[in-house]
Parts: sequence; structure tokens; C-alpha cells
Amino acid sequence: MQQKEDLVKNVFDSVFDKYDLMNDIMSLGIHRLWKKDLIYLLNPSINTKLIDVGCGTGDIGKLFIDATNNNCEILCVDPNKNMINACKKKFVNFKNIKWEKSYAEKLKASSNYFDYYTISFGLRNTNNLNKSISEAYRVLKKGGRFLCLEFSKIDNSNLNFLYKNYSKLIPLFGKIVVGEKEPYEYLIESINKFVNQNELIKIMKKNKFQNCTYKNLSGGIVAIHSGWKL
Ligand SMILES: C[S@@+](CC[C@H](N)C(=O)[O-])C[C@H]1O[C@@H](n2cnc3c(N)ncnc32)[C@H](O)[C@@H]1O
Repeated sequence: MQQKEDLVKNVFDSVFDKYDLMNDIMSLGIHRLWKKDLIYLLNPSINTKLIDVGCGTGDIGKLFIDATNNNCEILCVDPNKNMINACKKKFVNFKNIKWEKSYAEKLKASSNYFDYYTISFGLRNTNNLNKSISEAYRVLKKGGRFLCLEFSKIDNSNLNFLYKNYSKLIPLFGKIVVGEKEPYEYLIESINKFVNQNELIKIMKKNKFQNCTYKNLSGGIVAIHSGWKL
């Protein structure tokens, strides 16, 4: 476990300053549409509270502020100091936001507090899916919603073939843009190892989430999982 924690820390320590640029290059900008879809599905009400775990540079928080017309409270959580600092730079004009340096598996946040819990491309990096999802359940209030955007499994074999071959190029882009290919080898490996859509639904149900569903985007390259604390 410690090994994975150190590995993930090193990965994000190496890429934090080029993180946004690399996301645009690798996904050809499509990650922005996936994140917009997440917020569209969430359809947040004004004056609500969001906890965004694995916040990285804060894309989800930004979209949440827009969707609630600035009437919201946000807690951004990430274990990586460099990512949190990069995130803070994006929110200089928004005051109703706090940061917490911690892991999805052991949040410091209060129980039964948030209306929404989001985790975008973060769950794959955690050490323990069960613990992370049970912590999500704990911090949500009754009636609160969990949404996870994450790489998933592609159904169509032709698309899968194209995607797998495209993925092989990603470490090369990493070498050119960031100067290192290893973080992007980790990215591909972690995507391959991650659970499929139905396995994630099972873990959510096991942790008491109800009305659990998922929506594939881009043919299942990524999926958005949704569950409710009722
Ligand atoms: C791929 S980035 C995603 C950032 C952002 N949410 C986005 O969608 O662009 C993954 C983030 O998860 C963080 N992370 C790694 N391990 C974590 C853990 N155990 N719990 C919470 N976040 C973690 C990393 O530091 C990194 O900032």
C-alpha cells in the first residue's frame, strides 16, 4: 500500500505543472466535455455543499461554481501538496472554498455534511476502493449524491483496439511534453487494472449507496457512476 501511495505521489509531483496541458493533449480536449457531463448529470442546486476528492487542479470545482452561480461551498481534497497549490491559483476570486490535504480513504471532513461528493479521475489512484467509497458515504448527508468520473472498460472491440494502440503513444507524449514517460506508463497501467462498470456498482451497493447507475461516455473509455445516500 505504501508503495502505491509513494508511486502515485511521485507521479503527480512530476506532472503537476503540466497537468492541464497534458490532459488536453492526451484526450484531445475531450476531458473537458466529460467533466461538463459530470456537472450536467449532477445538476446542482444553489446554496449546496460539494466535496471534490482527488481535486487535482480544480476543474470540477470551477464547473460547480458556474453551475451554482457562485452560490455554493466547496471542499477540495487531495493528498498532493503541489496539486493543491496549483488548484489554489485557480480560485483566487472565490472565497467559499477550502482545501484539505488528505486521502479519499481517510477524509478529515465531518460526517453527514455534504450534498454532493465528486471524484474525477481520482478513484483509480486510491489504495482501497472500499474504504474510499465508505468514506464518501460517511461525509454525505442523507439525500446526498456520489458521482465518480473514471476511466472504464470499452465494449466495442474495434474501438478497444484503436484505444489500446493509441494508449501506447501516451508515454511518448509524456516524454516530449513533461520530460518523463514513467508517470504516463503508470496512467495506462492503472487504467488497465481498474475495475469495470459493474464491479464498481457492486462496491457502491456494498457501501450502502442506493439507486446506483452508470453512464458510459465515449463508448466506455470513461464512465460516470452515480449513487445516493437515502
Ligand atoms: C488524475 S488527477 C485528477 C484531478 C482532477 N480531479 C481532474 O479530474 O482533472 C488525480 C488526483 O488524485 C489525487 N490522488 C492520488 N491518490 C489519492 C487518494 N488516495 N485519495 C485522493 N486523491 C488522490 C492525485 O494527487 C491527483 O491530484
